[in-house]
Amino acid sequence: MTSTQATRTVLVTGATGFIGSHTCVDLLAAGHRVIGVDNFLNSSPRVLDRIGRIADRELDFVRLDVRDRAALDELFRRQPIDAVVHFAARKAVGESVEMPLAYYDSNVGATLGLLHVMGEHGVRDLVFSSSCAIHGTVDKVPIAEDAPVRPTNPYSRTKWICEQILADLCVADPRWHITSLRYFNPVGAHPSGLLGEDPRGVPNNVMPYIAQVAVGRRAELSVFGDDYPTPDGTGVRDYIHVVDLAHGHRLALGHLRDVAGHRVINLGTGQGTSVLELLAAFSAACGRELPRRIMARRAGDVAALVADPTLAREALGWTARHDVAQMCRDAWEFQRLNPTGYDDEGA
Ligand code: WQD
Repeated sequence: MTSTQATRTVLVTGATGFIGSHTCVDLLAAGHRVIGVDNFLNSSPRVLDRIGRIADRELDFVRLDVRDRAALDELFRRQPIDAVVHFAARKAVGESVEMPLAYYDSNVGATLGLLHVMGEHGVRDLVFSSSCAIHGTVDKVPIAEDAPVRPTNPYSRTKWICEQILADLCVADPRWHITSLRYFNPVGAHPSGLLGEDPRGVPNNVMPYIAQVAVGRRAELSVFGDDYPTPDGTGVRDYIHVVDLAHGHRLALGHLRDVAGHRVINLGTGQGTSVLELLAAFSAACGRELPRRIMARRAGDVAALVADPTLAREALGWTARHDVAQMCRDAWEFQRLNPTGYDDEGA
């Protein structure tokens, strides 16, 4: 298990997003040069200053939409990029059902454009942001990389389509080295409280919703179903700390050339946590019981999604270091210090 630890110039798309920003911090702290790009569709420019404050190093940043191939081409012409980490995408499952073309355009179209520009400039090292959601309803947990793929919504279909594009590209041209990382449920925040999850509008995901209940922005958590075949009846997920996730991306970059072609690796803890257990952990973090109401199941939800993280450990030497209690403590610290998110600074 070798890895190229030399410092490199890494282009991070979606650099001001939740996972992108934490990955920029991790790469900068490890000595890499980082060029970030984002269109701020679902993130705040205020994140840039915070990345710099945490890493004590500035990242180069260009505001652009990855679908703008001319702007991407210009960037690659001006900068000596060695590798790319591609986060930029739309990621709300429900929204993808309502506006599929926007998702195919942003997630598949943009990835195709990026690959064309990378190839034209001889940059063929790529870490791609994928998701365990491509499995859809699974027959059993834990989920390994060879589990059946049955995407059930446009969002997860865009991720699966992109993985197929990347696999076909690597077969056609073995000069490419690509790893797709399939995340389970990214949560938490940077321990400094400067970076965290700040979704626009009403949070779709449970952790930011709980955090907003804790800080008083939401009245109560709707628990979507308590009649699942799980220990307490509520949904079980494999929550992974965003700082662990960021570290996994840097390791994946270092191991890209261990194998030829396209590789898929799960990033999860292997531990399942129910909604009620998450609520209890967050209550412990914020020091008070949080109001909740049991509601009907949410359409499209499955009972349990838990990763088999064996390959990440064997191929990357990666294991999650943070437990759910730490995830809740860090998420609460960010929410407490930023009650209305990044635009809290007198927008
Ligand atoms: C987790 C659990 C809900 C909200 C999604 C995407 C996945 C990835 C992560 C991008 C479930 C329950 C939720 C609420 C609740 N995104 N819940 N009340 O659905 O596992 O995964 O986000 O890659 O692709 O599918 O995450 O946080 O929405 O739900 O009870 O207000 O919390 O039923 O059991 P999910 P989630």
